[in-house]
Amino acid sequence: MKLLVTGGAGFIGSAVVRLAVARGHQVVNLDALTYAANLANVAPVADSPLYAFQQADIRDRAALDAAFATHQPDIVLHLAAESHVDRSIDGPADFIDTNITGTFNMLEAARKYWQAAGRPDSFRFHHVSTDEVFGSLPADPSVQFTEATAYDPRSPYSASKAASDHLVRAWSETYGLPVVLSNCSNNYGPYHFPEKLIPVVILNALAGRALPIYGDGSNIRDWLYVEDHADALLLVATKGALGRSYNIGGENERTNLQLVHTICAILDRLRPRDTGAYADLITFVTDRPGHDARYAIDPTRIRAELGWRPSVTVEEGLERTVRWYLENEAWWRPLLGRQGVGQRLGRAAP
Ligand SMILES: NC(=O)c1ccc[n+]([C@@H]2O[C@H](COP(=O)([O-])OP(=O)(O)OC[C@H]3O[C@@H](n4cnc5c(N)ncnc54)[C@H](O)[C@@H]3O)[C@@H](O)[C@H]2O)c1
Repeated sequence: MKLLVTGGAGFIGSAVVRLAVARGHQVVNLDALTYAANLANVAPVADSPLYAFQQADIRDRAALDAAFATHQPDIVLHLAAESHVDRSIDGPADFIDTNITGTFNMLEAARKYWQAAGRPDSFRFHHVSTDEVFGSLPADPSVQFTEATAYDPRSPYSASKAASDHLVRAWSETYGLPVVLSNCSNNYGPYHFPEKLIPVVILNALAGRALPIYGDGSNIRDWLYVEDHADALLLVATKGALGRSYNIGGENERTNLQLVHTICAILDRLRPRDTGAYADLITFVTDRPGHDARYAIDPTRIRAELGWRPSVTVEEGLERTVRWYLENEAWWRPLLGRQGVGQRLGRAAP
């Protein structure tokens, strides 16, 4: 099976690339290499005869046509996107261009390629999206996002992802393009770019710096270990029913404050401070505008139809993650110099 993975030099895309190659698939990683990309993420498979890299921008339709013609994929896993909510508040234009127009270009390039090949049923276009398209949930634990939850995006990022989801469904209904979609909760794990909460907390803690918590830390997320997510994505891409979407969650709801305390406790054990506990560094900072209160996934469909469940609890996944950052300073240290890293972004609309 030949997979074309867009955004394969990013956090989740690289986990998909590494797992797919390990399972014997041929993989083409198509990525523009933005600030969020890192080819070191795919170093473990870079020398495999199953792996190829294609630098291309999904905003460039001609480049996509050429990539489809050259690589002739059986399945597309489309992950390339601008992904950081705080950056979308400061500069929404890139999110519109890449997440909406870029997805449109991908759909058109895929449609042209699929039609020229005689519209094979076996072809799949898997669009990877987020639970943030569903908006914000109340605290009531009995209320979760299902695949039928109405879209209610509230940030430029989630609005751009919602728009891309609608385009994918429209290309399925209108042109018959064989698509599947998935909407997942917050991912964490190895190779996570150090602008997102968990790597920021680990690396600030190691440097003895403040651990910033937005607002009062009560926002709830359903944490999904990235390698579990990659496993689910390969399953949805290959076995998901055409035209269907699947919610993918970690079954691990935690407040941000609980999450940070768990990371601190792991660090206290693995790399104790000279004096005090890491939790002493916790600092509450101004909240993100429009910060969604709670996301939680109802995993019934993917469990019932595809037999998938996450393999780790958030405590197990965080232990693996913290150990990985402790052992891979050569990976994260150079990223601290990238544009915007270490700065407070998305504080307020100007
Ligand atoms: N990280 C999460 O918790 C999360 C949760 C839900 C959904 N998602 C979705 O999963 C996907 C991957 O997220 P991630 O966290 O790995 O993102 P990431 O920011 O780590 O990686 C994105 C990758 O896409 C590439 N890219 C960006 N713009 C591009 C363009 N115009 N052309 C080609 N490549 C481009 C980047 O170079 C980078 O390698 C995204 O679609 C995101 O919306 C992420």
